[in-house]
Amino acid sequence: MVKIINPVVGACSSFSLPNKFQVKGEIYTMVPCDGLLLCIFETGSMAVWNPCLNQVRWIFLLNPSFRGCSCYGIGYDGLSRESYKILRFVNGVFTKNEYANTGSYKPEVDIYELKSNSWKTFKVSLDWHVVLRCKGLSLKGNMYWIAKWNRKPDIFIQSFNFSTETFEPLCSLPVRYDVHNVVALSAFKGDNLSLLHQSKETSKIDVWVTNKVKNGVSILWTKLFSVTRPDLPVLLAFENLSYPVHFIDKNNRIVVCCEEVLADKRNVAVNIYVIGEDEIKRQDEIEQHQLGFSWPFISGYTYLPSLVPVPSSEDNTPE
Ligand SMILES: *[C@@H]1O[C@H](CO)[C@@H](O)[C@H](O)[C@H]1NC(C)=O
Ligand SMILES: *[C@@H]1O[C@H](CO)[C@@H](O)[C@H](O)[C@H]1NC(C)=O
Ligand SMILES: *[C@@H]1O[C@H](CO)[C@@H](O)[C@H](O)[C@H]1NC(C)=O
Repeated sequence: MVKIINPVVGACSSFSLPNKFQVKGEIYTMVPCDGLLLCIFETGSMAVWNPCLNQVRWIFLLNPSFRGCSCYGIGYDGLSRESYKILRFVNGVFTKNEYANTGSYKPEVDIYELKSNSWKTFKVSLDWHVVLRCKGLSLKGNMYWIAKWNRKPDIFIQSFNFSTETFEPLCSLPVRYDVHNVVALSAFKGDNLSLLHQSKETSKIDVWVTNKVKNGVSILWTKLFSVTRPDLPVLLAFENLSYPVHFIDKNNRIVVCCEEVLADKRNVAVNIYVIGEDEIKRQDEIEQHQLGFSWPFISGYTYLPSLVPVPSSEDNTPE
């Protein structure tokens, strides 16, 4: 099932996934874009789904096997939204030996166009990988991830431009990389990005925003706020919990959903907090479930519902 939580009014509704989903296995990951959800199943199947319209389109696959170490994206050409595209590439983090000597590797990049119902495949040389468990962000037609150079300790924002079908590194990050810290991306005021960082050591939360997303220009990160106080939640206490998900509300506070282990050490609560510079409140407990049941299947996504229809293909190929 899916639960939709509106943290602004505190409403929570749940409903079953489409019947057609039940036979495809678990959903491994999703990427939201304009109210459409790209769903990747454990079995390798892919679908584009608009839950508001209850529309589903299955993506025809050349090779319907699941590739767990892949990254996925969805976006479109220019501003027209005429042609949505899906991106899939192997993320080098799991193929360490392949790039041990050179720092680079040559994954296959697959792009599917919804309009023409066709795939194309090419190889590129990459010397970076998407930081493990970082969710990709689809924003104004392009994809953004937090990535790390293979031979340098620095992390940066990597983008994929669906117009040119190329990867374009965008800017470095104002935080140091530490595998134990939380780093997560979200959108902020239209075109801008936000970065949530929590230090595992001190629990301090920093929220940064950009004021411009532009190709080739150094992007300015501005700190929106920092907060350190003893009652701050630890957003990711263990690696086997779901990665926290956040967005920034209109009062410049973060609304963050995270899992926290309960005192019995066997169960987990899924909580929503609203955290600002001088305030913190727990908004809601969404549910409780057993520890060890979280990853990768139970995960939150920030999603703006819309009535964008799931695009059909020109040739109307049956699903
Ligand atoms: C991005 O942020 C800047 C600074 O807060 C703001 O002026 C601008 O309007 C934002 N961009 C968009 C598209 O809203
Ligand atoms: C993507 O590439 C197009 C064509 O070069 C360019 O006009 C556009 O600004 C790029 N988009 C971003 C977000 O960089
Ligand atoms: C989750 O991780 C913690 C810390 O590494 C460990 O103590 C615990 O046994 C793990 N639980 C499960 C169910 O994997």
